[in-house]
Amino acid sequence: MKEKLKDIETEALKEIEASENNRDALEALRVKYLGRKGTLTELFKKMAEVPAADRPEVGRLINVVKDIVSKTLDEKLKIASESGEETKDKIDITLPGISGRIGKTHPITKTFDEIYTIFISLGFRVVEGPEIETEHYNFEALNIPLEHPSRDAFDTFYVKSANAKHLLRSHTSPVQARFMEANKPPFSIIVPGKVFRPDATDASHSFMFHQVEGLAVGDDIRFSDLKGILAIFAKQMFGKNTKMRFRPSFFPFTEPSAEVDISCMICGGEPERTSAKRCSVCGGKGWLEILGAGMVNPKVFKNVGYDPGKVTGLAFGIGVERIAMLKYGINDIRLFFENDIRFLRQF
Ligand code: PHE
Repeated sequence: MKEKLKDIETEALKEIEASENNRDALEALRVKYLGRKGTLTELFKKMAEVPAADRPEVGRLINVVKDIVSKTLDEKLKIASESGEETKDKIDITLPGISGRIGKTHPITKTFDEIYTIFISLGFRVVEGPEIETEHYNFEALNIPLEHPSRDAFDTFYVKSANAKHLLRSHTSPVQARFMEANKPPFSIIVPGKVFRPDATDASHSFMFHQVEGLAVGDDIRFSDLKGILAIFAKQMFGKNTKMRFRPSFFPFTEPSAEVDISCMICGGEPERTSAKRCSVCGGKGWLEILGAGMVNPKVFKNVGYDPGKVTGLAFGIGVERIAMLKYGINDIRLFFENDIRFLRQF
């Protein structure tokens, strides 16, 4: 009996060693040796043939061999599953792959794109100018003299330079002067870009923000053109029921000048209609300021070498963050620049 046991052990280990590394083959060997009718199980049934005195010893030996065979099988099965052999034939290549996350357009870029689409359809083209400007283009060329009080809000980040005084531009208007010096009317341009102001940061102020400047110059550009163009812009940006109003204002580079409001898209210009006593977006005014505008001041034409008797022009400056905040219901300007992926992914 003991020799037989030894033979079975040798035979089983040899077979396991030679077997294919897959679950089915190894499972078949487990049945062959350890199953209900397996070689080793059968031995227990032949116990009656063993002399009574040897039975405990033989029983123990059978269990030892069962243990060895079982452990060897387990070992091999583990190797099979780790090496992937076992699943090699079972990979479903039709399963969809794991796709990477695709980035989104930043809400400011998206708003720029929407503004471009509207103005390009009206015949404007997009041009750019430098973010580091000379005092001349940022102020003088635009009829903002050295001692003018409106410089206070603009006098800001100066950059060390050898000759002319340079600063980070406080608006996109300097590009008006640069473009006019280099080109002849008629033309219609929009100028997107970053601007910088000495403002303390809070929910509605940032020391850096974006503007889109507009400028159209020709021999018969009128205030009604300005109104018409901006009305189309407001309706396309905020919906066809949007109303617009011009409030008299002052900019040294336009005459006359206006600040332009649109009717509040939350309360529709009728704050008393909202359930809250005061509309939280327009503060109960019914109107929201979105841009500054006017007819190009003849002094600016003179500064760039145009004959103010021959040409007229319209100009406007749109605050891009303001438009994006109103359009998408964003209540804090800082969100645009914090790069929080949870915010950015929503657009
Ligand atoms: N440059 C002005 C500002 O930044 C906006 C503006 C542009 C006003 C063009 C009139 C005409 O406040």
